[in-house]
Parts: sequence; structure tokens; C-alpha cells
Amino acid sequence: MTKNLYPVPQAVKDRALISNEDYLAMYQESVANPDSFWAEHGKRLDWIKPFTQVKNTCFEPNKVSIKWFEDGLLNASYNCIDRHLKDNANKTALIFEGDSPEVSYSVTYQQVHDNVAKIANGLKKLGVEKGDRVAVYMPMTLDAIYAMQACARIGAVHSVIFGGFSPNAIADRIVDSQAKVIITADEARRGGRTVPLKANVDEALARKDVTSITHCLVFKNTQADVDFDPAIDVWAHELTADLPAVCEPEAMNAEDPLFILYTSGSTGKPKGVMHTTGGYLTYASMTQEFIFDIHPDDIYWCAADVGWITGHSYIVYGPMANGCTQVIFEGVPTYPSSSRIGDVVDKHQVTVLYTAPTAIRALMAKGDEPYATNKRDTLRVMGSVGEPINPEAWNWYYENIGNSQCPIVDTWWQTETGGIMITPLPGATDLKPGSATRPFFGVQPALADADGNLLEGAIDGNLVILDSWPGQARTIYGDHERFEQTYFSTYANRYFTGDGARRDEDGYFWITGRVDDVLNVSGHRLGTAEIESALVAHESIAEAAVVGYPHDIKGQGIYVYVTPVEGIEADEELTKAVRNWVRKELSPIATPDLIHWTTGLPKTRSGKIMRRILRKIAANEHQALGDTSTLADPSVVDDLIENRLNR
Ligand code: WTA
Repeated sequence: MTKNLYPVPQAVKDRALISNEDYLAMYQESVANPDSFWAEHGKRLDWIKPFTQVKNTCFEPNKVSIKWFEDGLLNASYNCIDRHLKDNANKTALIFEGDSPEVSYSVTYQQVHDNVAKIANGLKKLGVEKGDRVAVYMPMTLDAIYAMQACARIGAVHSVIFGGFSPNAIADRIVDSQAKVIITADEARRGGRTVPLKANVDEALARKDVTSITHCLVFKNTQADVDFDPAIDVWAHELTADLPAVCEPEAMNAEDPLFILYTSGSTGKPKGVMHTTGGYLTYASMTQEFIFDIHPDDIYWCAADVGWITGHSYIVYGPMANGCTQVIFEGVPTYPSSSRIGDVVDKHQVTVLYTAPTAIRALMAKGDEPYATNKRDTLRVMGSVGEPINPEAWNWYYENIGNSQCPIVDTWWQTETGGIMITPLPGATDLKPGSATRPFFGVQPALADADGNLLEGAIDGNLVILDSWPGQARTIYGDHERFEQTYFSTYANRYFTGDGARRDEDGYFWITGRVDDVLNVSGHRLGTAEIESALVAHESIAEAAVVGYPHDIKGQGIYVYVTPVEGIEADEELTKAVRNWVRKELSPIATPDLIHWTTGLPKTRSGKIMRRILRKIAANEHQALGDTSTLADPSVVDDLIENRLNR
């Protein structure tokens, strides 16, 4: 049974870095005196030239500007690698666990250094210079991490594109960032299957508007035969073979861009969220240490993909800046069987595990298979990220993976926040299943109503953040106006998260989910607008509206309403074709779960689609449609209800 309060276990308290008293005092200090607080914690990094200025931020309309440590110089890759070499050159940095359980090996910090330096030199040889953008479309292999660190080393701005994205999505991201080089591999492996990465890149580069790429750097992974065009393609092993394993890290200003990562919003194309160097790395490293209670002998495993922000902050940057030993997992939790996560924990003696509710729910559906054959008794702390975790899944994770011994840190954050914002600390916070609990140091969350009034006490509202923190995104690449518009215009002088939340009587936050047109499908963020534009690009579709609906495993499923163009009769074959079309145009993660053909969509008299109604019907809550009197043609709704697909 799910209890509603889990106090910090004594054993966890005894060795924790931060106690509740520490938390309360440090939090107070962090919001009362952000300059001195962050000046102190900025010192956790090695600076080439120490900063003298700390916080210089403004959320005011038309003047949004975010700068931290702005006169300091440092290099992220130096901080993640070189500075550990003095004492820990032979410490294991990365433990690779392949898609196949037969494949695993480890590399030390020294080996990481040498690999990164060679690739960095290779990129230079291809003409990549400080400030240039480099697209990275890689499998979850060590080469992906080396590639990102190599960019950071020479001051190039990486733009990682998740390996599940399709050629069109790759092309869009290249065009927007004007990347000079793209780094990829022959193929990726995932769950016993392969993904044709190089072929996808070839198709993306063939699009006429993709003109910025001068070279495609290709790593061998599966050794598959791939098309190779010597005019543009370069094999990584050939390029780096004779290059030195030393490459002086570039001195970067704290506010120089470190990376761009595209994410979905409620309107238009994905936006390139831009993070800079000093503040981001300080925040990623500090949150990783305190939230997962990291000690030098920990074996840390974040089971995310480097294609998402979690892989950036909690694989490539935070843990490496802290000199952690970590598992890098190429595969999926359910392959070759649902015991994989527990098996990997036992195999590598993992002490900290960070995964997503969707993975937990998928395992939960498998009965006792996930935990029958493994012990997991090395685990001390477990994390959850990406979407709200329902108390049933929380409890299952706690009891069956964590043997009822490990605190669960339910970490709320976003691509735009750079690092975790609301979270328990293992040794400090009593847990309530389903609640992300309290803010991290320096984070001032608040709840606002539709008119922008801040709400007090135990209440529901829209989640805003009142002031800046070092890990905050600085802009949307090439479009600062959109940055202001998206995050700072709904509520003047506040950062609007796009999420709703409830605060309870103990001041704990419970994230209730997006309040905008962004879906969260298996922890992946997808804009309904993006899926709609892929749909209407299909020759048989006249109009499309996409909404989410509750889904047992994915959290949210994708419910698609489509009207066929005149003369087209929708049948099963067309439905199948449309499903494949979206996979191909956008990504398999955007595959519609339910496709509802209709002759009309509910619209207001001014022609605006009433999504509120479509959401209710998709959720099978059509009894509570609310006011439909403003509809141009109310009979459309009866027809939709009658033919609804989720019953
Ligand atoms: C959701 C992922 C509830 C939220 C790090 C947010 C969560 C969006 C949690 C960002 C959580 C993330 N509880 N909801 N612990 N973590 N979310 O940019 O809606 O891929 O706005 O970053 O995921 O997704 P993104």
C-alpha cells in the first residue's frame, strides 16, 4: 500500500551530504544573498580566469537578459576531464553497457581524455572553430560523449539531435543552427534492432535548404555498410588515427554558448534552447552532487539518452564535472527482458539509478519479471524525471527496484532550466509519493492565477519562477524575441514554465502537467502543432487537430482528429499510411496512438478549433464538455462523441 509520507531513513541521513537543517539554512541563504551564495558555489569549477561578477539578470519585459559569472573564463571539457587527471587518471569514468548484455567495458578518465583530445583535433582539422555549431546525431555510445566533450573542448557549440528523429527533423535543426559539421555513426542499436543513422543523415543533407554542412564525421558502430561520399563524409577512425591525444582546451567566457538543444513548444517549429558555459556547468554539477548524494565511490547510472537534456546535464556534464564513475547504457529497459535494469544494477554494482516513470510503468506491467532474478542491494538513491510519477508507479519503484531502502528523488525540471529545480534531497527531505517536494538552492517557485496574481498557501496554479538561477537557458538560438515571448510574456517579470502545479499545506510542490499545447509522451516532449503540421503535409489530409489523453504506460497518448480532403474515403489502409507518415516525417516517438477520421472539427464562429472539447472527448470525458454554445456547428460534437476511439 502507498503510504503518504516516507521519512528519511537513518542510514541515508548518516552519510548524506545535506541534512534538513543544512537544506533550510542553505536555501534561505541562496535566495537572500544569491551573489555571495553562488560566488561560493561557482568555485566548485576550475576557472582559467576567476569571475569577479556573479549574477546579472533581468526578467523585465523587452529587457530579458541572463548572465552569470560573466567575466570568468573556463573550459567545460577541462572541468569534466583534465582536472581529474592529477589524482584520478585511472579512476573508471565510463562503464559502457551495450544493447546486448554480452557487451560491456570501462574506460578511465585518462582514456576519456585521450579520445576526446583526438576527436577535438579531428574537428579542428575539418575546419571547426570556436563558436561554430556542430550537429551530433549519435547512438548512445561512448563516442557520443567524446564528441560532445570534444566540441566543448574547442569551443564549438554542439547541437545534439536525438537518434530517434527522422531526416526531416534533422534537416530542420541543421538549417536553424547552420551547423558546419554533423557527427554521426553508421547505425545505432536499440532493443536488438538497428537504426540507420548515416542513411538518415544522408537523406537530411539531400534536402535543398541544407547548405551549411561541409563535412559529415562518421563513427563505426555496428560496422554496417553505408553509403560514403568522399566529398563530404569522413571516417572518424581515419581522421583521428595520427592525431595527437593532446588538445589544449579553449578558454571560454562563462557566457559563451556551450550547446543548443531543440525542444518542442506549443507553437511552430522546435526551438533551439541555448545554454552557456559557466552557470550551466556550475548548476549541473552542483545539482548532480547534492540531489543524488554523490560520494567518490558511487557507481551512478542515468538511463537517459544524450539526445535529451537529461543526458546533457546528468550524463555528459554534471557527473563528469564531479569525477563520477557512471554507467552508459546503449539499450532499453525491456531488452532482452524486463529484468535488464536490475541485472545491470547487479552487474556493475550501481548505487544511484536515475530513470523515468514511463520505464517504471512499462516494467510494472510485467509482473515480477523485472526483479525476480536480481538483487539490486547496492542501490542507495533512485531518481525519477520527465513527467509526473503516479503514486502507484512510485511505490512499485520504491518497493520492487529499491527494496524499500532507497529514497526516490522525483526531480522536476526542463530543457530550459538546464538542471533540476524542484526535488527532494535524499538526506533532507521526507518524501510524499507523487510530489517533487521542495525547490533546490536558488530556485524560487511560485504559483500564479490566470491574471498573474501570485497565490499563497495550499493551492493550485501555474508554476512560475521568480528569479534567475545559474543553469537557466539564456535565449532561443537566433530568436531572442521568441525567448521573451515564450517564457516571460505570460507573466511580466517571471519565468513561466508552462506547467501547472499544486502546493500542499507543507509547502511541497506537486506538478500536475503542462497547461499549454505540449504533450508529454513517455517523457518525450512533443508540440501538438508539430504533429499537426506533419499531418496536414499528407496529401489525403485536409485538417488535423492533435490532443493528448491519459495512457497507462506512456503517461499521455497521442489522439489525432483528421479530416480527409474532398473525395478521399478514409479506410484502414489510409490510417496505417498516416501513422507511418508521421513516424517518417517527424519521429517514431510522435506516432499517433489513435486516429479519428471525421468530417468536421468543433470550431468557434471565428474558425478557432476548440481543443478543450477535443481533449475531453479523447479522454472519454464527454459527459463534462462544458459550454458548447459558441460553436459554429454543435452537431459536429455529437458525431465525434459517437465515433470516439478511447472508450
Ligand atoms: C515535465 C525534461 C512532473 C514537465 C527534464 C516539464 C515533469 C517537462 C517532471 C520538461 C517531474 C519533467 N514531474 N513533470 N519530475 N520532470 N516534467 O524539457 O511538464 O524534456 O515542463 O525536460 O517535463 O520536459 P523536458
